[in-house]
Amino acid sequence: MVHSSLIVTAAFSWLHLVNAVNNGLARTPPMGWNNWNSLACDVSEDLLLSTSKKLIDLGLRDMGYDHVVLDDCWQDIRGEDGYVTPDKGKFPNGMRAISDQLHMKGFKFGMYSSAGEMTCARYAGSLDHESKDAENFASWGVDFLKYDNCYHMGRMGTPETSFNRFKAMSDALRATGRQIALSLCNWGEDYVHTWGMSIANAWRMSGDIYDSFARPDDLCGCDTNNPTDPFCIAPGTHCSVLFILNKVAPFVDRSIPGGWNDLDMLEVGQGGMTDEEYKAHFALWAALKSPLMLGNDLRVTSPSTLSIINNPAIIALSQDMHGRAAQRVARNLDVPKDEYGVGETHIWSGKLHNGDQVVILLNAANEDLDMSAPLSEIFVSEGPGGSAPQANQSWEVFDLWANRMSDAEARSILEAADDQTRAEIFGKLGWYNATDIPYEVGLEQGDKRLFGQKVGVVEAHSAWNVKVLRHSAKVYRFRRSGVKSEGHNEL
Ligand SMILES: *[C@@H]1O[C@H](CO)[C@@H](O)[C@H](O)[C@H]1NC(C)=O
Ligand SMILES: *[C@@H]1O[C@H](CO)[C@@H](O)[C@H](O)[C@H]1NC(C)=O
Repeated sequence: MVHSSLIVTAAFSWLHLVNAVNNGLARTPPMGWNNWNSLACDVSEDLLLSTSKKLIDLGLRDMGYDHVVLDDCWQDIRGEDGYVTPDKGKFPNGMRAISDQLHMKGFKFGMYSSAGEMTCARYAGSLDHESKDAENFASWGVDFLKYDNCYHMGRMGTPETSFNRFKAMSDALRATGRQIALSLCNWGEDYVHTWGMSIANAWRMSGDIYDSFARPDDLCGCDTNNPTDPFCIAPGTHCSVLFILNKVAPFVDRSIPGGWNDLDMLEVGQGGMTDEEYKAHFALWAALKSPLMLGNDLRVTSPSTLSIINNPAIIALSQDMHGRAAQRVARNLDVPKDEYGVGETHIWSGKLHNGDQVVILLNAANEDLDMSAPLSEIFVSEGPGGSAPQANQSWEVFDLWANRMSDAEARSILEAADDQTRAEIFGKLGWYNATDIPYEVGLEQGDKRLFGQKVGVVEAHSAWNVKVLRHSAKVYRFRRSGVKSEGHNEL
């Protein structure tokens, strides 16, 4: 009895401290895999279980990718009792059997539905059936719900209408008593970035991503020259990486621990972008604190894909305890354009928990460019016009891609014949293992694998100058010079 009253008191005071949806989940952006981008409706028990095995074998679960999320098309019909049953052909043993196996291997199980009469692929939706569907999810051991926006019966058009429609599921999940993270997928409609954090752990802020770095497409149906247009008619399904970055830039600061702007699932490894474009996509999603949901078919992973998504120095940006997104501090449109009229450069900058600063120089112009990032812009949030004390000191610059795994190393993991060989390879590589050392601990301890490689110094009141290839990004951690930290034990 004493015990339970203590727990109640602790829970109450803790509830007063959090300011996102009060479920205690997603204190750092969720990481995992979702089948939609590569496999759409081609879902099955075998897909989920074989993918979870791949996540383990490739070392990805131990990099932090611990959610296995099933998207649309798992349903049969809604029965007369009001409950939806899973398709028996695709899921012969039901959902509980899958979630039990995933939990045993250290994964969380994610599911999908839509706040509409139908889901996007026109299966039974959850609108006005929230309680029964939430009961189902809880009884199946679901940990995470991606909740879509199709066929909403006109219940949108004001923030309050959308808020109430999605809140019904948030309340229903809570009423089950099971901890289930809620990930809204309402495509940025009705200013979701202003209310998502009250009811959900993440909210999509744009139409669906597609596998292109910068190509404008009518199916990303907002004005591509004005991505922040709040009256965007059709958020759409073909939004490029660059479009999404431009759309989120003005409200990137709305992400807080427990509630994140979701820039959509990753396209890394799908084939439509170059290696440099994928590196830029991945690093920006990490620095902007989007959930990191792999979208590629892991059964056909290439070495270069693996060595992008398993870079611990980049993932450490995402999982940093400060929990605030990098912001765009400079944008230049006066650069060479491509055949679509697209061309621009950005500098993104963000504070990290230990006082370091992430700095990203993005070249989305149509030529290689010499770019310059002045300390006065990098630290503008601490004081504009160079008045920030941080601009009046020197910084050591660490390249976060410098220690990317080599192709040969990645290939050896992909081709390892059995568990024994794999364990030997990982042992020899000494690769970061977040199951062993959570990112919070690794960062605290100054684990070198999270800090990249030193490539130079920026003196006080000056700038970091570097050539940046067309459609690529340079990604750095700036560290105070002469401070006692990893590798610098000066007296
Ligand atoms: C990571 O560490 C855990 C816990 O020690 C271990 O079980 C797992 O095999 C390691 N993963 C890799 C890829 O080495
Ligand atoms: C910069 O820092 C030095 C000490 O390191 C100080 O003397 C100087 O006044 C500072 N300048 C500005 C502009 O803050």
